[in-house]
Amino acid sequence: MSCRLGSTVSRSVRQMATLHKPSLTGKSPTAIVMLNMGGPSTVPETYDFLKNLFMDGDLIPLPFQRVLAPLIAKRRTPQIEKQYADIGGGSPILKYTEMQGAGMCELLDELHPETAPHKPYVAFRYANPLTQETAQRMKADGVKRAVAFTQYPQYSCSTTGSSLNELFRRGRAGEMGDIEWSVIDRWGTHSGFIEAVAQNIEAALAKFQQSARSDVVILFSAHSLPMSVVNRGDPYVLEVSASVNAVMDRLGHSNPYRLVWQSQVGPSAWMGMQTGEAIKGLARLGKKEVILVPIAFTSDHIETLYELDLEYMKEGKELGMELHRAESLNGSPVFIRALADITAQHLRDYSARTIGPTSVQMGLRCPGCKNMTCGQQKHWFARAGRS
Ligand code: FES
Repeated sequence: MSCRLGSTVSRSVRQMATLHKPSLTGKSPTAIVMLNMGGPSTVPETYDFLKNLFMDGDLIPLPFQRVLAPLIAKRRTPQIEKQYADIGGGSPILKYTEMQGAGMCELLDELHPETAPHKPYVAFRYANPLTQETAQRMKADGVKRAVAFTQYPQYSCSTTGSSLNELFRRGRAGEMGDIEWSVIDRWGTHSGFIEAVAQNIEAALAKFQQSARSDVVILFSAHSLPMSVVNRGDPYVLEVSASVNAVMDRLGHSNPYRLVWQSQVGPSAWMGMQTGEAIKGLARLGKKEVILVPIAFTSDHIETLYELDLEYMKEGKELGMELHRAESLNGSPVFIRALADITAQHLRDYSARTIGPTSVQMGLRCPGCKNMTCGQQKHWFARAGRS
């Protein structure tokens, strides 16, 4: 072998070593499984997304669910398709989740090399990639250790709880292989998350005239919940309130603020006050400078891009208001660093056995819970996903 050929071969081997680090080191990746509801990436995926949503008995228990869910989805599809078309042809949630996951895992390899390489997996509840598909990928990758990392900062049984129930069903059925699991179930007051939100509010505040800035009302908007969920003891309202309080502490309580709730559907009672009504009420009171802040979502999707940006901003402007929206966290480096810090701390504490596979708070079911899967899921994760 000539020297030249030899150096070419060794360079190729070095490149291969970089590209296929896990297999050459014989170490399977530590999976960081990012749980979220997801959204249709393209307009034609809207029906499947809605059908999966209405099929979720943990979110919306329906009589004859398998029959009714496709019918309700079909009826709602044209209206929702139009909304996705209006925001550019689909939800950007997968794009941002993948961006956040890649950035987080790159940082994690440095912050906690003991469990490297870290690999992000996206597991959406209602859109591709669904939990089922992600489970197969994890099995094919030979994953032995995984962290279920909810991308909802504040815990609700309708969101994180539903994703964990689905993960549990797949895990118990053996679809993912033999994996040691732990869970990051909530992080709504983490300092990095709070800092990222606060910085985006400050950027939005800077758009107002300096003289009017301190009077601007900060309107935090979170996805609402049916009162039937709130009244069974769901922790979401408390945890969103804690996030708002932490952001306002970080801002030095520089402005008046309220927490309001968006995206109510159907005739039943939901958590209020509704965001749209609050905007009208503020206009009536002469409070015409407002910032809208999405506090329970970590990236743009239909609730920010359509409901806040197109519906509420338009209504407010028609009422003579000056409204700006704090940007969603999307590709914020401060936020991506926060995701890495949260996970590194979790891995460190879990390795040191100062925490168990789940938080103490996750072990407690809602006092009004009648869903047996919740109990089985909590038991399964508390034993690291081992039956
Ligand atoms: Fe909250 Fe089951 S509904 S634990």
